[in-house]
Amino acid sequence: MSNERSYETALKRSDEIRADLNLHPEAYTMLTGDRPTGRLHLGHYFGTLKGRVELQNAGIRTHVLIADYQVITDRDTTEHIQDNVYNLVIDYLACGIDPNKTMIYAHSAVPAANQLMLPFLSLVSEAELQRNPTVKAEMEASGHELTGLLLTYPVHQACDILFCKGNVVPVGKDQLPHIELTRLIARKFNNRYGKVFPEVDALLSETPLLPGLDGRKMSKSYGNAINISMTEEETAKRIKKSQTDGERMISFDPEQRPGVSGLLSTAAICTGRTEQDIAAEVGMGGSGQLKAYVTQAVNDYFAPIRERRHTIEQDLDFVKDVLHEGNRRAAALAEETLAEVREAMGMVY
Ligand code: TRP
Repeated sequence: MSNERSYETALKRSDEIRADLNLHPEAYTMLTGDRPTGRLHLGHYFGTLKGRVELQNAGIRTHVLIADYQVITDRDTTEHIQDNVYNLVIDYLACGIDPNKTMIYAHSAVPAANQLMLPFLSLVSEAELQRNPTVKAEMEASGHELTGLLLTYPVHQACDILFCKGNVVPVGKDQLPHIELTRLIARKFNNRYGKVFPEVDALLSETPLLPGLDGRKMSKSYGNAINISMTEEETAKRIKKSQTDGERMISFDPEQRPGVSGLLSTAAICTGRTEQDIAAEVGMGGSGQLKAYVTQAVNDYFAPIRERRHTIEQDLDFVKDVLHEGNRRAAALAEETLAEVREAMGMVY
């Protein structure tokens, strides 16, 4: 199937699921996660965190994974990993992920899930792995050589999804090849050994990707992202430093005016207004006035989240408890699935 065809198919499935989620929440298990490489930013918040909280509150089984082993797919160090992991948990909790409803865990703490890697690797060919466009893109972006882990991490991601029998995975379009591979692995396993795993579908994001303050892709390395964890002053400073252009009259034009437009999109998503509306209001006020508006919009929106974050941060024991409890639950779930897998394979002695 061509990429466009499979995108159309995935989008149709995703829309069907979205329509059914609230009617049959019990039929769905959502799994998604993040690499603990730094603090979460506004792109993460509006692109996925907000949606996870909505799914959690709709009564769907929700699992959030801290993909710590994935950190070493394209980097040679685990520097700051403990701090990053704890802060990820803090970001989750501050944004409304409720540990009584959602299982939060790190995949390195779930040995039985990792063991699924062995049978799963036998179900994919080297050519299938080499063809994965996401792996290629990540390799090029990171400048890292293609290690065995980078080549096979989509298989590991299938372990993440299938150990808990996840059947919906919120992703962006670029992650679809991973979902396809997960489906292939589940199907092949079921055909060879008997049905253990569900059909997995992508839940495609409905909101367009929020650009960074300069209009480019939001990324920590571009310095164009506002982190959830920033203070009001840090937020103001980052916005003040962002690049605009010489034209005084503010208008929304992502192609010709990426800086001004990135700022407008940030304000729009935080206020629920349109970019055009905000542009018209600021008008000849220029980028100074626009930046003041954006700063206020971001700081107002995130004030309660940051206040919660501040409180949670003071209680690291609580944060650790949340993670340990999630790890414990995930490990128990993984043991059950692994037992089914070994049973299906006849590896019972
Ligand atoms: N690849 C995701 C990221 O880079 C993290 C991740 C790991 C994930 N395993 C997953 C996401 C399984 C969804 C499903 O942020």
